[in-house]
Amino acid sequence: MKFYILTLFPEMVLTGLRTSIIGRAEEAGLLSLEAVNIRDFSANKHHKVDDYPYGGGAGMLMQAQPVYDAFCSVAAQIGRKPRCVYLTPQGRVFEQAMAKELAGEEELVLLCGHYEGMDERVLDEIVTDFISIGDYVLTGGELPAMVLVDAVSRMVPGVLTNEESGSSESFEDGLLEYPQYSRPEEWRGKKVPPVLLSGHHKNIESWRREQSLQRTRERRPDLWERYLQKFSKE
Ligand code: ADE
Repeated sequence: MKFYILTLFPEMVLTGLRTSIIGRAEEAGLLSLEAVNIRDFSANKHHKVDDYPYGGGAGMLMQAQPVYDAFCSVAAQIGRKPRCVYLTPQGRVFEQAMAKELAGEEELVLLCGHYEGMDERVLDEIVTDFISIGDYVLTGGELPAMVLVDAVSRMVPGVLTNEESGSSESFEDGLLEYPQYSRPEEWRGKKVPPVLLSGHHKNIESWRREQSLQRTRERRPDLWERYLQKFSKE
């Protein structure tokens, strides 16, 4: 899978993502990251990429031309118009099922905005998906793009080792993961739940399931409702 990140801050994105597991996956050839600097495509002699909004209002907008040309350079490189995600608080809120679905793409372009936003015309022209990482506003699309690349990459086969992948992780079946414990058996007076030391796999499994249900009900009533609805339909 190949990610093309259109950004004004290529260093930020690559440095962040090439650390740890995603960096290891890139070295292993399972995925590749390319940051495309939008500023390199400015037709302006001062490499300007922003301007005032028509009609007035606060702040500056990213102009259409450099963004469009950056996108076209990617499309030309791969020989077709790829799926293009614009990271914006006005998008659909990102979740695990979307990460899984996007991991099926050969290539993905991620467009990172800055300033007060972007000229709407370039969005009309190139964007296929509008995605938000949550209902809060960040200063730019780079952190959201990194979040998305991380979540999508770990769904690409081979990126996680067997040990890392774990079929029972949070959201796998719409529930939060159960609590986990490692050595020592007692720490600051707190003991590991005895069932986990019992070696009785059936009991351990049902304890974990119960913990997942309880945790989801308590911490994420919204997920719990969805989970119950899924069952009432079946
Ligand atoms: N850009 C600024 N805030 C954002 C958010 N919450 N999600 C995606 N892109 C953004």
